[in-house]
Amino acid sequence: MEQDEKIKAAAQVLAEAKSIVAFTGAGISAESGIPPFRGEGGIWNKYNPEALDIEYYYRHTNESWAIIREVFYDYFNNREVKPNPGHIVLAKWEKEGRLRCVITQNIDDLHTKAGNKTVHEFHGNMSRFVCSKCGAKYPAGEIQITTTPPHCEKCGGLLKPDFIFFGEGIPHEAYYASLEAAENCDAFIIIGTSGQVSPANMIPGIAKQHKAKIIEINMEPSTYTNHITDIYLQGKSGDILPKIDEMMNS
Ligand code: APR
Repeated sequence: MEQDEKIKAAAQVLAEAKSIVAFTGAGISAESGIPPFRGEGGIWNKYNPEALDIEYYYRHTNESWAIIREVFYDYFNNREVKPNPGHIVLAKWEKEGRLRCVITQNIDDLHTKAGNKTVHEFHGNMSRFVCSKCGAKYPAGEIQITTTPPHCEKCGGLLKPDFIFFGEGIPHEAYYASLEAAENCDAFIIIGTSGQVSPANMIPGIAKQHKAKIIEINMEPSTYTNHITDIYLQGKSGDILPKIDEMMNS
């Protein structure tokens, strides 16, 4: 089937769906200028993921913090990172009452900035810091990002970005809300994820088990493509999502 016909088929599934859930990964933010983790230009090609291991952060805090600051905070502070057309379409679908929620692995806050209200942040969010000792939370904008790791004003404890490090559990609210959404939707759109990281990567399979139609947008096949995906659309999500939206309204 040609790409245009597949986009038309995807638009039909989504237009007829009673409840759509979007599951996103780093690929949806690539066109906002944020590098993915794997594949071409991936962060893990350049940095050792150990820096994001929770034990390593506590045992080798200065080394870990130097990488976290460079990869996430300096990178974002040195450029204006904003939602791209892919994020905007998902916010439009929520406003139109089509989209039930976004389940995102991303920590960049771009779905919320695009206007989505129900965003389950499976891996947390870099726009907040949390105290590893007393649990106090701070907006990242209020924290002085310097060469030394930040500490809590209240108790002096070490702060960490409020996103999930390797070795940490998934935030309970996001975990259970994502499961519930995947079990109760009739269309599930997977956007820009390689499907390499558990337990996030089991969410699409749960939607499939509950008879949702699976649509996938990616630059290249993922672990889902020849396994659970019903309609695979190869290409950039910032190009494809607006085309689907246009078809849904034609
Ligand atoms: N449009 C659509 N897909 C894209 C685009 C794009 N413009 N650019 C890249 N992609 C695809 C890549 O082909 C790849 O399959 O997005 C996917 C990104 O995969 P990863 O970099 O592995 O990102 P993700 O799946 O979100 O990683 C999951 O791994 O390191 C952890 O916590 C981190 O949340 C992250 C998790």
